[in-house]
Amino acid sequence: MEEMAPRDVLLQSIRRCIASEEFMPAFYERFLGASEEIRKKFRSTDLQRQHQMLARSLELCAAATMGEPAALAEIRERATTHDRDHLNIEPHFYDIWLETLIATACEFDREWNDTVEQAWRRILGYVIQRMIRQY
Ligand code: HEM
Repeated sequence: MEEMAPRDVLLQSIRRCIASEEFMPAFYERFLGASEEIRKKFRSTDLQRQHQMLARSLELCAAATMGEPAALAEIRERATTHDRDHLNIEPHFYDIWLETLIATACEFDREWNDTVEQAWRRILGYVIQRMIRQY
C-alpha cells in the first residue's frame, strides 16, 4: 500500500483531535498554564474565538506545506501579526506551542503513532521556522 503523504497524515490527525470539543480547551489550558508570560499574551483574548482560530490555523499549516500560494500568503500575514512590532511572540514561545500541541494531540488522537507525530513535527516545524524568520 502506498504511504500517505505527511500532509494527509497530519490533516486526518487534526480532524480526529478536533472531533472532540474538549481538544481546544485542553490545549489552551496547558498552553496558558505553561507560563505567566503566555497568560499575559492572551490577557484580553476571547478564548472561544481563539479555539476556532487554532483549528483553522492548523489546517492552514498543512496547506502551506503543499506550497499553496494562498496558504503561504496567509502564513506571511500571520508572521507579521506575530512579529516583534505587533503581538511580539518571541521565538522561544513556538517550542512550547508545538510541544503542548503534540502532548495534547497524542491524548486525543486514538490512532496516534510515530508516523503521526513525525507529520506534526515536520509540518508545524516548517511553518514555525517561517514565522520565526520573520520575527
Ligand atoms: C505556527 C504557529 C502559530 C500560528 C499558525 C498562529 C495563528 C494565529 C492566528 C490565525 C491568530 C488570529 C489572527 C492574528 O491575530 O494573526 C493568532 C492570534 C494570536 N496568537 Fe498565534 N499562532 C501561532 C503561534 C502563536 C504562539 C507561539 C503564541 C504565543 C503566545 C501565539 C499568540 C497569539 C496571540 C496572543 C494572538 C492574539 C489573540 C487575540 O486576538 O487576542 N500564537 N495566532
